[in-house]
Amino acid sequence: MGFCSPVCKILRRGKYFVLLILSLSVLAWIATFSGETVKSVLVSSATTQALVKEVTLRDKLNSWTAAPDRVNTQPLKTECPEKSPLLQGALNLSFESSLKLKDVEGDNKDVNEGEYEPSDCMARQSIAILIPHRNRERHLLYLLHHLHPFLQRQQLHYAVYVIQQAGDATFNRAKLLNVGYLEALKDYSWECFIFHDVDLVPENDHNLYMCDKQPKHLVVGRNATGYKLRYKGYFGGVTAMTKEQFLQVNGFSNIYWGWGGEDDDLRIRVELQKMKIVRPPAQVARYTMVFHKRDSGNEINKDRMKLLGRTPHVWRKDGLNSCSYKTLSVERLPLYVNVTVDIGKPQS
Ligand code: BGC
Repeated sequence: MGFCSPVCKILRRGKYFVLLILSLSVLAWIATFSGETVKSVLVSSATTQALVKEVTLRDKLNSWTAAPDRVNTQPLKTECPEKSPLLQGALNLSFESSLKLKDVEGDNKDVNEGEYEPSDCMARQSIAILIPHRNRERHLLYLLHHLHPFLQRQQLHYAVYVIQQAGDATFNRAKLLNVGYLEALKDYSWECFIFHDVDLVPENDHNLYMCDKQPKHLVVGRNATGYKLRYKGYFGGVTAMTKEQFLQVNGFSNIYWGWGGEDDDLRIRVELQKMKIVRPPAQVARYTMVFHKRDSGNEINKDRMKLLGRTPHVWRKDGLNSCSYKTLSVERLPLYVNVTVDIGKPQS
């Protein structure tokens, strides 16, 4: 012990010394290595870019996963009420000769390319209004003037499509409406379609431009005929059918050129499917018909009774599934989508 004691002391001190030296070397190595890493990150532009990318991605991830109040600041819209509080009932219609398209555009600033949806609630239905047209600009102006505010008061999501028949072949209202249906569905999956004559202006905004479980006929009466239903099966002027109802009957026939019969043909198709036509109450389903003389190019179709007799046999082959046409232009104007089409001419 007496001999070992001084030796052991030296050895013990040496051990601490070695330990101290070792720790210092490790610290120095760490400092040197990490310094090199920082330097290399700073000098290598490629690495810098990678870092920048990584930071931006992280920022994005952070923003995507951030607290909900930071991500989605827009409140969720609730469904619009069943009865719009904006409805006014019977309206005072005006047909001023001084009315200009610019005035109507100015009055309907919330309509964009013919489309509108309420800002404060979620509309109950999305509706495409289809208006067959040729050379009736004045009527179209009056209709747009009344229809846009009317539909907005009904709190609907809607778009107006005007389908123009190009050329001067005999007019074919029904085929233009088939085209309107097919073209509008390219824009949006509209659930309801309103087939609307250009010269009929609704008089009461309780006449809802929405679809029902059954095809709906909206014109019970009009000024020109003492506000009486023309006949029991009348299904003309303005009608509403869902996307599926219209598909089920294969749309309108394409072979009614000139005035008359195509609406009766549609009624037959509806009845063949065992659907039942519904109508709003007579006191609201009222229209003013803008006076006009019979258009040239839309003469009475003398064959219409003969064609109507064939409907039960041909409806499967003549309709949406056989509607051939050439779209010449689609213009997205402020108040409507203007679709101009070549639908051919009557086959002799
Ligand atoms: C025609 C229909 C028309 C109705 C009312 C009928 O004779 O076939 O197309 O809508 O009269 O004017």
